[in-house]
Amino acid sequence: MGFLSELPPGKMIEKRIMARRIAVVNDAGKIYAIESDCKHMKASLSTGRVADGMVTCRWHSWKYDLSTGVCVTNEGFTLKTYRTEVVEGVIYVLL
Ligand code: FES
Repeated sequence: MGFLSELPPGKMIEKRIMARRIAVVNDAGKIYAIESDCKHMKASLSTGRVADGMVTCRWHSWKYDLSTGVCVTNEGFTLKTYRTEVVEGVIYVLL
């Protein structure tokens, strides 16, 4: 789905996979994949900020845990997360 060399630490890219918008994230070398539509007003999280295992929405700063998808700033909202694998420099998102 993409090359690790194109996703440096601290960066995100958005991919459409089977009609889903998914943000693929490199947080300090760990690769995550998370639903990209913010639960607040559906802004793309791939335009937000990533740090310390969290992604923060650019619009109104809702923050989500990249491992669990749980929104840590507003209770009761969770994004779907996906397993990832990197094989020979290629990132795979497991749906
Ligand atoms: S749209 Fe993401 S916090 Fe408002």
